[in-house]
Amino acid sequence: MKKKDNLFKDGNFNDLPFSFNEEVTEVFEDMIDRSVPGYESSLRLIKDLSEHYFQSDTNCYDLGCSLGASSLSLLEGIGKRKGQVIAIDNSSAMISESKIRFSNFIKTGKIKFLEQDINNAQINTASIIVINFVLQFLETEKREILLTKIFQGMKEGGILILSEKIHFDNNLRNQKIYRMYDRFKLKNGYSEMEISAKRDSLEGVLVTDLEFFHVQRLNRIGFKNIRKVMSNLNFITLVAER
Ligand SMILES: C[S@@+](CC[C@H](N)C(=O)[O-])C[C@H]1O[C@@H](n2cnc3c(N)ncnc32)[C@H](O)[C@@H]1O
Repeated sequence: MKKKDNLFKDGNFNDLPFSFNEEVTEVFEDMIDRSVPGYESSLRLIKDLSEHYFQSDTNCYDLGCSLGASSLSLLEGIGKRKGQVIAIDNSSAMISESKIRFSNFIKTGKIKFLEQDINNAQINTASIIVINFVLQFLETEKREILLTKIFQGMKEGGILILSEKIHFDNNLRNQKIYRMYDRFKLKNGYSEMEISAKRDSLEGVLVTDLEFFHVQRLNRIGFKNIRKVMSNLNFITLVAER
C-alpha cells in the first residue's frame, strides 16, 4: 500500500524549498502518481522501448531513479538478455530504500544503485538512457553538459528517453494548461492549499524549459530522430536516437 502524501496539508509551514528527503521518499509513489499526469504510461513506454532498443551486453541508465520505478521497467524490457541497469540518484533516502526493494535483482548483478550527483556520472556503452522527470531539477546551465555526456556515452542506435514538465511560450495557453493541471491535482485529492504550498516550495527548484528548447538542444548535441512520444497537459516524453 502506498503511503498517502499529506506533506503540504497544512501548507509549507517551515518555508523550506522542496527536497527529496526522507519524508518525501516515504510518500513519493503516491505523490508522483497524483502529481504527474501520464506517469504510469511513461513507465510502460520505457518497458516497451527498451524491449525494442536494448542492445545485448550494454548498459542502461536510470538517471534520477528515485525508488527505481523506471529501473524496473528497464529490467522488464531487457528480460533475460545480458546487460546491466545503473540507477543513480543523489538522495540517500531514495537510494537506501531502493537497495532494499531491489535486493534480489542487485544480487544477480542485473542492477546497481549509486548515490551520486548525475552531473558527475560516468556514462558508457549505453543503449538506453532514461531521465524521467529529472532534468528539470538540474541547474539550467548544467543540462546541456549532462545531455552531451549522455550522447557521448551512448552506442550507435541507442536511445535517450526524456520526460519533463514544460511550459509554453504563449501566455494564454500556458495559463489554460496550468489551470487544467491544477484541476488534475484537485481531482486527485489535493486541496487548493496543498497545491499552492507545493508550488511555492518548488519555486526555483523545479525549473521548466519550453518543448522547442528541449528539441533544439538535443538537435544541437547531435541526437537524431527526436520525437515526442507522449504528451499529457504540461508534461512530455521525448525519444532521441544516437
Ligand atoms: C521526480 S523524481 C524522478 C522520478 C523517477 N525518475 C521515476 O521515474 O520514478 C526526481 C529525482 O531526481 C533526483 N535528482 C535531482 N537532481 C539530481 C542530481 N543532480 N543527481 C542525482 N539525482 C538527482 C531526485 O533526488 C529525485 O529522486
